Amino acid sequence: MTDTNDVLITADDVWAGYIPGVSILNGCTLEVKRGELVGIIGPNGAGKSTFLKALFGLVPVTGGSFNLDGDDITNLRADQLVRRGIGFVPQTNNVFPSLTIAENLEMGAFQAPKTYKQRLEVVGDLFPVLIDRKDQRAGSLSGGERQMVAMARALMMDPKVLLLDEPSAGLSPARQDETFVRTRAINQTGVTVIMVEQNARRCLQICDRGYVLDQGTAAYSATGRELLKDPKVIELYLGTLGA
Ligand SMILES: Nc1ncnc2c1ncn2[C@@H]1O[C@H](COP(=O)(O)OP(=O)(O)OP(=O)(O)O)[C@@H](O)[C@H]1O
Ligand SMILES: [Mg+2]
Repeated sequence: MTDTNDVLITADDVWAGYIPGVSILNGCTLEVKRGELVGIIGPNGAGKSTFLKALFGLVPVTGGSFNLDGDDITNLRADQLVRRGIGFVPQTNNVFPSLTIAENLEMGAFQAPKTYKQRLEVVGDLFPVLIDRKDQRAGSLSGGERQMVAMARALMMDPKVLLLDEPSAGLSPARQDETFVRTRAINQTGVTVIMVEQNARRCLQICDRGYVLDQGTAAYSATGRELLKDPKVIELYLGTLGA
């Protein structure tokens, strides 16, 4: 059983950026409990992708800290973070296009070859279509199918937490919906999820808790349901239909 009061990840006053002296994250503080599905919404350029990249060791953290399960993981390398249980699905370039689906999944498990077969079964249950088409090259798949391969690849390492950067971007409405349903299903298998999304309404509908990130700072947090009713969130991120 997961204890929902148990904190899995914290960002404590995190400062980070790409160029020395130019901060994109300006004292970002948030926490994610074990088993939670947390959504991060906010305007373009707010630093949402930068937050995930800093957590995953791809952007240098210049102040503050990230903590996973009680350990300081600030500025660890991505491969070390994978071994500690973090899976990251970037928004773009998230599959190896010249490799088959099966080869992509193998790449996902290369740090844990012994558990490959067992993980393939778990991941195959979540994404049966990928097993049916395992010999197809990822480069010939549709956007939605690629997104599935990318999520499945990240799940091959049996992560504690999955970081998703705009998994619904560029997909048709039906495919977007599938992505949200699948994300919830992955979360229900016990994987903690942090999801950055443009589609704020759908994101808030499925997440336990949401954060609004603005100018590199987590401006406020509440349950997904509360944020959907919040007049400021409606005005800025959901449009008049949210009223
Ligand atoms: N590789 C990079 N080098 C320098 N600056 C960058 C780089 N990537 C992003 N930035 C800058 O960091 C800021 C935050 O970008 P980020 O991609 O984190 O925003 P975002 O909230 O994910 O936006 P979007 O909703 O458009 O994806 C922007 O001003 C952007 O120009
Ligand atoms: Mg982004």
